[in-house]
Amino acid sequence: VVKYGLVAVMGATSYYTYTIYRELHPGQQNSQSSTFENGSPKKTLIILGTGWGAVSLLQSMDTTLYNVTVVSPRNYFLFTPFLTSTPVGAIDINSIMEPIRHILRSAKGEVKFLEASATDIDPENKTIKVVNSSGDERVLSYDYLVMSVGAKTTTFNIPGVRENAFFIKEAHDSIRIREKIMKNIEHACFLDPSDPKRKQLLSFVVVGGGPTGVEMAAELQDFVNESLTKWMPDIAKDITVHLVEGLPHILNMFDKNIITYSEEFILKSKINLILNTFVKGVDADNVHIEQNKVSKQFPYGILIWATGNQPRDISVTLSKKLGEHQSERRGLQINEKLQVLGAEDSIFAIGDCTYHAGLAPTAQVAHQEGTYLSGLLAKLNEIDQLSWKIAQVGTSEKRAIKLKEKMREMVINLPDFVYDYKGSLAYIGAERAVADLKIAGKDYQLRESPFAFFFWKMVYLSMCVSFRNCLVVSMDWFKTYFFGRGNV
Ligand code: FAD
Ligand code: NAI
Repeated sequence: VVKYGLVAVMGATSYYTYTIYRELHPGQQNSQSSTFENGSPKKTLIILGTGWGAVSLLQSMDTTLYNVTVVSPRNYFLFTPFLTSTPVGAIDINSIMEPIRHILRSAKGEVKFLEASATDIDPENKTIKVVNSSGDERVLSYDYLVMSVGAKTTTFNIPGVRENAFFIKEAHDSIRIREKIMKNIEHACFLDPSDPKRKQLLSFVVVGGGPTGVEMAAELQDFVNESLTKWMPDIAKDITVHLVEGLPHILNMFDKNIITYSEEFILKSKINLILNTFVKGVDADNVHIEQNKVSKQFPYGILIWATGNQPRDISVTLSKKLGEHQSERRGLQINEKLQVLGAEDSIFAIGDCTYHAGLAPTAQVAHQEGTYLSGLLAKLNEIDQLSWKIAQVGTSEKRAIKLKEKMREMVINLPDFVYDYKGSLAYIGAERAVADLKIAGKDYQLRESPFAFFFWKMVYLSMCVSFRNCLVVSMDWFKTYFFGRGNV
């Protein structure tokens, strides 16, 4: 046992030392070129986005097979599962941001990056228009385009939401919420305890009882129960965290038992859970709700909106250009090979920008789609190579006939994407998490057990895109556990 134990420890140590070394010293990369060594032309691949789908594709693909350019307004990857922990200081926002250059420099072949947004796509001529934050424009040509632009938070056009609410989608959302929390708390301290404005400032409202809303409300209540109670007890006792959900239950994608347990747990943690209540409007001071067909309103100091996704403008633009092939308002329609309907020969789409029955907008799906697409692109390159060889040999040659047969077989045997659902996890506060798992085809649930929280942490740590990411998040947890959150 000691011998095997030592071998395992040495193996793990060498692996992690090598991983850290590779992250810090990325080594040589093959430069981009118009042709391969045999003279065949190399195709251009443009990837839009630096989120879960794009990074999974980039980390698993052989970037020497294409001239790859990544375009995104964000020059970093954001680890969204921990985003709701950041406005309250449980995890530092920088810890969940991984510079895209770190990821791209670790690839075998050179990958170019442009910090810009795609604003238009011409699928006929295979070009895209990109614009950077200074307003400079460029038109880029592609052979293959991968749409992995994610989605934006929907407001269902409810009046006042875009003007008054915060979203929790991007790093800057977290920073703004954090500033607002501290501003409201200090403002409340300044006021006389009898001032009604104080109650309003300390009313924190989260709308949407999906996993984003639940995790956000849970983190806010943890902040109140664990940090503010210690350092600012007079403020802590006056803060109310409200979680408003239109449907009869929260976390609707989970099993019934998990839903019941989570709702009871959330109520015990003192979150004011308001079910069966749709928000119908928002003004600068009040949330307008409808409960049992009766309209009411209540004041808020901070409003965080998390009612799901809607497509980004660039996805809508592409969808319109593809006309009758795209009829779904929820996202780009794709086939089993993740090709965009109406532009199957050249455009792929992965992650939250797509709509496909059975595929939820989750990191898990985007990650698996990215990995699948890397394999598909490698196979498409093999087919291109065969096609080039056939052109060299001449169509009447015996060898060309054999190559053609091989190529036909390869095209027929191109694999379809098959989603392997592994389960869902959500943090519900006070060091508790819930999990609906699928292991070897069987369903398992974790709820009351404190192990679920440990499991939640381990699963997401294992999904970090770099060792640095994983290490700094662990250090933040350690820091928060012993010294409290950074905010107060
Ligand atoms: P994203 O990761 O959103 O990336 C989109 C990229 O496209 C970004 O880099 C963006 O800057 C870029 N982009 C935007 N517009 C343009 C443009 N015009 N041109 C070029 N680039 C553009 N899922 C889970 O499975 N588990 C979780 O625990 C979990 N927690 C979450 C917590 C929060 C708070 C949120 C908001 C989401 C969470 N999700 C979770 C969902 C998960 O984050 C998404 O499903 C995932 O990010 C989708 O990946 P994506 O690559 O499609 O999009
Ligand atoms: P969601 O679509 O899952 O939930 C939104 C909720 O808002 C719904 O329950 C809806 O009934 C409610 N709602 C809509 N309009 C409302 C209104 N006007 N008033 C009150 N309630 C209203 O959206 P969410 O949570 O943003 O998640 C988006 C995607 O990201 C999902 O696919 C989710 O699975 C994924 N995600 C996964 C996480 C995890 O696995 N832990 C964490 C966060 C997100």
